[in-house]
Amino acid sequence: MHSAPCATPLQGKTAVVTGGSGGIGAAVVQLLAAEGARVIIGFNQGAERAESLRATLPGQGHLAVHLPLGDPALHTALASQLASLVGTVDILVNSAGYTTRIPHTDLTTLDSALFNEILLTNAGGTFSITRAMLPLLQKSGDATVISVSSISAFTGSGSNMAYCAAKAALDTMTMSMGRAFGPSVRFLCVSPASVDTGFVPGRSREDIHKKGAATPIGRAVTPEDVARAVLACVTHLRTATGTRIIIDGGYQL
Ligand SMILES: NC(=O)c1ccc[n+]([C@@H]2O[C@H](COP(=O)([O-])OP(=O)(O)OC[C@H]3O[C@@H](n4cnc5c(N)ncnc54)[C@H](OP(=O)(O)O)[C@@H]3O)[C@@H](O)[C@H]2O)c1
Repeated sequence: MHSAPCATPLQGKTAVVTGGSGGIGAAVVQLLAAEGARVIIGFNQGAERAESLRATLPGQGHLAVHLPLGDPALHTALASQLASLVGTVDILVNSAGYTTRIPHTDLTTLDSALFNEILLTNAGGTFSITRAMLPLLQKSGDATVISVSSISAFTGSGSNMAYCAAKAALDTMTMSMGRAFGPSVRFLCVSPASVDTGFVPGRSREDIHKKGAATPIGRAVTPEDVARAVLACVTHLRTATGTRIIIDGGYQL
């Protein structure tokens, strides 16, 4: 006999969501809180958005924290704060990221300085946050780190070449970390195709939906689809680590 599934399977768990003020991150925050987790919402410039989101969440103990990718001192400061406040972190969702649209043929605009900035902020910043949280994740004994990557990591197409490289770096780090830090911490990437958010400045919603409609699934991926995939990584994909979960509606087929 199977027992009835728990209505709040994440009760008692603490989750940190970077980029929790953004489209995908906010959907993840809402779902994890609905499932019972206490959520730490990382934001960059969206303090007000993060605070309004926090105020609507069910449950208690949620926090909104300034967590810019490029400031390692703030990453370790958050880890110290959480060490005394809650002691462990059970879920880390790396959703923070940024990009800009540069045709892949335009290596004048994408000079080395800009390439390094995009790569280091997106991949290096995510590494720094994960590194800072690791002792707290290890203390949980059953933790999951999910990085919101992209099909750009392995298709080489996307808003610009450095962004593709940054997502490929996340995928590879996920493999290395999965190997290094199991069994207490599992590492996964969730890799969507275009999602209907304001992520790429200048990209039209019409384009996103047109691309989505042409896939076998027949629609674009939504922030809520990504959030459900993240949740599945925690609750259901219990033997998956060091790999990516592709949620692109069959875009590549
Ligand atoms: N939308 C897509 O088509 C798509 C497809 C594949 C993968 N992704 C990935 O999904 C993730 C979330 O994107 P989204 O679609 O939710 O876009 P979004 O709505 O623009 O959200 C981006 C989030 O990242 C945060 N952020 C940006 N720059 C940051 C920095 N320097 N330091 C810390 N946080 C920073 C933003 O914080 P503030 O708003 O507080 O400044 C915001 O919370 C990204 O990693 C992106 O690469 C998106």
